[in-house]
Amino acid sequence: MSEVERVSLAIERDLIERFDQLLARSGHSNRSEAIRDLMRGRVVEEEAVSGRAESVATVTIVYDHTKRDLADRLLEAGHDHHRMILATMHVHLDHDHCLEVMALRGKPAELRHFADHLIGMKGVRHGKLVMSSAGV
Ligand code: NI
Repeated sequence: MSEVERVSLAIERDLIERFDQLLARSGHSNRSEAIRDLMRGRVVEEEAVSGRAESVATVTIVYDHTKRDLADRLLEAGHDHHRMILATMHVHLDHDHCLEVMALRGKPAELRHFADHLIGMKGVRHGKLVMSSAGV
């Protein structure tokens, strides 16, 4: 960890009280750690958008595998982007629904493009891309 700088912040009482309640529920040890996490997250997001470096990310989708051709189309999309996909976890949620989480590595714009493609497929109920970085 680099050198630590102390900063003081002016925050509305109502907001800090609500934030403290959230910390109590989320298991953060203290405010500083929680605020550092928020800042890191924002910095990682911003760097991912600017697209300079290769990023890692996860994309999570929930879909109905009984929808016509969807499982085949997802499989095909995966093979078309095999260099980008590090690992896939598949969970059969119930009779019709599957949860899939893919760990990805690549240029941020390519990761977003691939995730948008998956999430936009007919029969995909929910999807989210989470960009990350090993560098922060
Ligand atoms: Ni399944």
